[in-house]
Amino acid sequence: MSSAEQPVVLTCAQPTGQLHLGNYFGAVRNWTSFLDSHECYFGIVDQHAITMPYVPAELRQSCYKTLALYIACGLEPEKCNLFLQSHVIGHTELAWILGCLCPLGQLERMTQYKDKSARADEGVFIGSGLLYYPVLMAADILLYNADVVPVGEDQRQHVELTRDLAIKFNATYSDTFKVPSLNIPKHAARIKSLQDPTRKMSKSDPNQGGVLYLLDEPNIIRKKIKSAVTDSGSEVRADDEKPGITNLLHIMSASTGRSIEELEAAFAGSQYGAFKEAVAESVVDLLTPIQERYKAISEDKKYLEGVMKAGADAAQKRAYKVLSKVSRKAGFVERPR
Ligand code: TRP
Repeated sequence: MSSAEQPVVLTCAQPTGQLHLGNYFGAVRNWTSFLDSHECYFGIVDQHAITMPYVPAELRQSCYKTLALYIACGLEPEKCNLFLQSHVIGHTELAWILGCLCPLGQLERMTQYKDKSARADEGVFIGSGLLYYPVLMAADILLYNADVVPVGEDQRQHVELTRDLAIKFNATYSDTFKVPSLNIPKHAARIKSLQDPTRKMSKSDPNQGGVLYLLDEPNIIRKKIKSAVTDSGSEVRADDEKPGITNLLHIMSASTGRSIEELEAAFAGSQYGAFKEAVAESVVDLLTPIQERYKAISEDKKYLEGVMKAGADAAQKRAYKVLSKVSRKAGFVERPR
């Protein structure tokens, strides 16, 4: 475990039970870069997962799977605290207090809320938890008084709300929260769908052939990359007019650490077919050790529960301090001992 003087990193993600290459390059691999220099808290936000219709038994399974995947991707439990949000008392409690400071209109204007609640038209039930989602996320962040909160571009508005709420709390009561700065990695490879390279690779893509999952078998990876859409012409070159080939170049570059220029030079004169085979092998080489580690731990519930417990204990220790301070400032009577 990291020593107390190190800066604190906190980030969270939903328990999807599946990760694709875009999640890996855009998020999880980036998180591993903090392990040796920061005290790290990585949360699996199961309480956020119930803001849309879901199946309880699947949620539970997904939490185990997501945890095993994170460990397999290199988030070693010896170097970071991996925890489930619902195991730490304080997230929902702080969300309540922050919610009482948060103007209703600001929540109604959040783009994710507007997008997701539009599904009411399809008959999807929309509960108030969805409206409250960003307040719970603000609580996740502020409860740890973290120095760094790495998130993707799609979370910008949520982190801005978190900053507003931290400032509002500090002004209303007294200085309590560090106002988190936005930490959106600019250089993170933006991986697109193999079938529509103008769109982000996404788990909810109706065309699943465009999505490379970390647990896809090598032959599935090869098949998906072989069927990836390419562009007219025959040159292997990164270019706005060649989104398909550009995406494959980014995937291979992120998988191997070789630069785009280096790859363009290496495949000058190659056919698309040969290039695609090389891309596929680079992805298979990257994923094989991750899949092996996953296989070794994913069925070991005892081990995973031990990791969850250690993570939750450490997270709780830090969260408790902030929660007690906040409760006192909010005017709650200290719990009699
Ligand atoms: N909303 C984030 C997402 O969908 C997940 C999340 C919840 C989060 N709480 C957080 C991310 C706290 C960073 C910090 O990706």
